[in-house]
Amino acid sequence: MDKIQTNLPDWSTLIPVLPGEGPRSHELYAALRRLIETGALAAGAKLPTTRDLAQRFGLSRSAAVACFEMLIAEGFAVAKVGAGTFVAADVPHLPATLKRERADDIDVSTSLPCGLGVAVSDPRTLSLFRIRLSRHLARPGPEHFRYGDPRGGLEMRTAIAAYLRTARGVRCNPSQIVLTSGTQQGLDLLARAAIGREDAVWIENPCYPMAHAVLAGTGARVVGVPVDAEGLDPDLGERLCPGARAAYVTPSHQYPLGVTMTMRRRLALLDWARRNDAWIFEDDYDSEFRYGRPPLTSLQGMDGTGRVAYLGTFSKILFPGLRIGYVVVPEALLDDVMAVRARSDRFPSTLAEGALTDLLNEGHFAAHLRRVRRRVQAARDVLVAGLEAHCADHLDVIVPEQGLHLVATLKQAGADSRFADTSLAEAAIAVGVGARALSSMFVDGPARHGLVLGFSGFSDDDLRIATAKLGRLFG
Ligand SMILES: Cc1ncc(COP(=O)(O)O)c(C=O)c1O
Repeated sequence: MDKIQTNLPDWSTLIPVLPGEGPRSHELYAALRRLIETGALAAGAKLPTTRDLAQRFGLSRSAAVACFEMLIAEGFAVAKVGAGTFVAADVPHLPATLKRERADDIDVSTSLPCGLGVAVSDPRTLSLFRIRLSRHLARPGPEHFRYGDPRGGLEMRTAIAAYLRTARGVRCNPSQIVLTSGTQQGLDLLARAAIGREDAVWIENPCYPMAHAVLAGTGARVVGVPVDAEGLDPDLGERLCPGARAAYVTPSHQYPLGVTMTMRRRLALLDWARRNDAWIFEDDYDSEFRYGRPPLTSLQGMDGTGRVAYLGTFSKILFPGLRIGYVVVPEALLDDVMAVRARSDRFPSTLAEGALTDLLNEGHFAAHLRRVRRRVQAARDVLVAGLEAHCADHLDVIVPEQGLHLVATLKQAGADSRFADTSLAEAAIAVGVGARALSSMFVDGPARHGLVLGFSGFSDDDLRIATAKLGRLFG
């Protein structure tokens, strides 16, 4: 075996002074990764031993080991038995970072076929909703004319608690439910109530960019924890970032990859939260759209220690413009969440709340769900068939058993920018297809390249034309 020496005699001077306290494996990891990415540590260069690193930077040995494990797991370094750890020959391609994500970038693609976050417009439900809205306006109750509970009306919270108990195994009573203007506000309330600037938070890697935006907005350190075929790996999370205050997860249908978190990982995550007094923010954004077996029960329903906050939304099942979602808040966080809510926008709008409560209580919501689920599943099949017909040589389609979007990974992706998904997504948007680049949803580390495509809310023809256009992009 070749003995390759570190090519910088005192490369350690390139690493900035590490902060004196807190988990430091991540700082060391970031510093080493920067050196590798910038080429200051060349491909094939031998890295120092973990003992040497630990001594030089005053770290524990286990922190240095954790740092190396991260570099290896993400493809920046390789371990050779008996020889040491080396900079990888083929250093991963830098993903487009989430920091560049702007809210207005998202709008461009959502208006185009295959855009994300588009709900089905169901004429029957809209008509039922309109009748109930005008009924509430014609005979307005006193709740519209005075200030209300920061959690929203009790009737709606009671209806949601009953729905969640049967549909998702969530264990809660209505007093724990806070109605919000969607998951976005729910997560923001939780983050502001539970996380401080000095904290660290886990997020899935890749992740839902808007959740990353909320968590990063608290000033906390947001650490991406890799997602594999079993979902987020809490063991890896503990090694990457021990002592995190909270974890944001989408266990039912990981966004964007679509993986369902296995029971083993769910138990491990709950155990982590219990041992560390940490919070789990469970975003269950699309479990109503399940096409195969019923979804696993929610994490919240499995949690016996009150560490899980459960977030749900009507954005997918009804429409995003409604701006109604909810959080089931753990008892220990409830006062703080209510205080944040009261000082930000006091309480939720009462008008749509009444009409939506009627739909829930009168059984219309369940019927709507059945109708819409069938339509969205059929749209999924049209998109999958179109991608198979036009893009099979270039894309591997992961057919989702849940939700409104799918991921199609690029067969040929890598350092060559012709095969970067960001270029492909830009080209797609230019020809009128609302594709998003998978790599743009990675927090850090090597990104997978692919397209994230929505299938809900578009006609079959629009989806067929879109896949033909995508096929032509591969030329
Ligand atoms: C992962 C995820 N969570 C939640 C939501 C819903 O957000 P909101 O309820 O704020 O509309 C979405 C919508 O795209 C999503 O993709």
